[in-house]
Amino acid sequence: MKKDPFHIETLAIHAAEQPEQNQSLNPPIYMTSTFTFKDLEQADDTFSFKRKAYVYTRGGNPTVNLFEKRLAALEGGEDSVAFSSGMAAIASVLMSLAKSGDEIVAHRNLYGSTFGLTSRLLPSFNLPTRYIDMTDMEEVKKCVTHKTKVFFLETPTNPSMEIIDIQAVAEISRKHKIKLVVDNTFASPCFQRPLELGADIVIHSATKYLSGHGDTLGGIATSREEDHISKLKFDYMCELGGVMSPFNAWLILRGMKTLPLRMRKHESNASTIARFLYNHPKVKNVIYPGLEEHPGYVTAVKQMKGFGGIVSFELDGGLEAARAFVEKVKLLKLAVSLGDTESLVEIPALMTHRDYPEEELEKFGFSRATVRISAGLEHADDLLSDIEQAM
Ligand SMILES: Cc1ncc(COP(=O)(O)O)c(C=O)c1O
Repeated sequence: MKKDPFHIETLAIHAAEQPEQNQSLNPPIYMTSTFTFKDLEQADDTFSFKRKAYVYTRGGNPTVNLFEKRLAALEGGEDSVAFSSGMAAIASVLMSLAKSGDEIVAHRNLYGSTFGLTSRLLPSFNLPTRYIDMTDMEEVKKCVTHKTKVFFLETPTNPSMEIIDIQAVAEISRKHKIKLVVDNTFASPCFQRPLELGADIVIHSATKYLSGHGDTLGGIATSREEDHISKLKFDYMCELGGVMSPFNAWLILRGMKTLPLRMRKHESNASTIARFLYNHPKVKNVIYPGLEEHPGYVTAVKQMKGFGGIVSFELDGGLEAARAFVEKVKLLKLAVSLGDTESLVEIPALMTHRDYPEEELEKFGFSRATVRISAGLEHADDLLSDIEQAM
């Protein structure tokens, strides 16, 4: 594990910064597809790896590289590979760790498209996924077969906010030489550092908190092993082609400077909303890991520095009440995605998680009536007034 002497607030602004020839405070955006060679000898030296240089943005770009190194510093990893979206990162990582005939084991609740990828697309290449309850370590121990090559989980999960004990799962994965991949999108490295807890690879949808402003897509995978990063970069990102644009990397780098500040405000707003909902007579249940009643509260306190900015809940009136609520809020916007300055609200079963079989939703930890709020950075009183009027 890499330990940086600086605090996360400093790393988010300065990690991996390079002197720039014109001494600009901010990094330049290398908005180029290709890089030139002085002569053929230089090209030959580059292609035979005698000379280290950028060749083509699909294989590497200085602006994207800065983002990769900065996030690696925040997550405590060796290095990262950036992708065009979170899904490009997840697909490439899973394909780099398991092949046809192997098996992935995942926690039952995943982001909708991750569920789509693992339940529909990868099985068509003879790479199936088994979904289990990873909050139960006995189930994790029992699920391992000689075919299992990857454990994949999110924590907190989207949208049911379940908390999985990363350290406990990592002990089992290490024993069986299985790679543990953690999607850390909901917590961000400010609140949770899975590599420190024993995970092998951390993934983010950088579209969310890392960018923070809802104006770009991006994904990134950070590994504790340099070898895996090279394999991911040259055999998967480069060949599959889902690379990040230098402009998106620059936007995300800009967003990341305020990540630690923003995460604290997202959390305080989410916590205020969760408590308000918890005490509201029309609310059936609230799921927020910062509430002591949450089944994962003790694990969350152990492995997280904050509980995050997402709250899920159900109203007494079920789906009809949920539909009315999301259409009546004004300040909260009805939209997919999360982690933006604006507060967003959605019904996962009808929107982001439509890939899940409707009749079996409860088995995966949420229901048709679950409402998900991504708390933004507005004043908490204004958010509560909006929620109250929509009730
Ligand atoms: C937890 C999680 N992982 C991955 C993704 C996919 O990211 P992207 O939309 O950037 O492809 C999402 C998107 O909402 C997500 O919530």
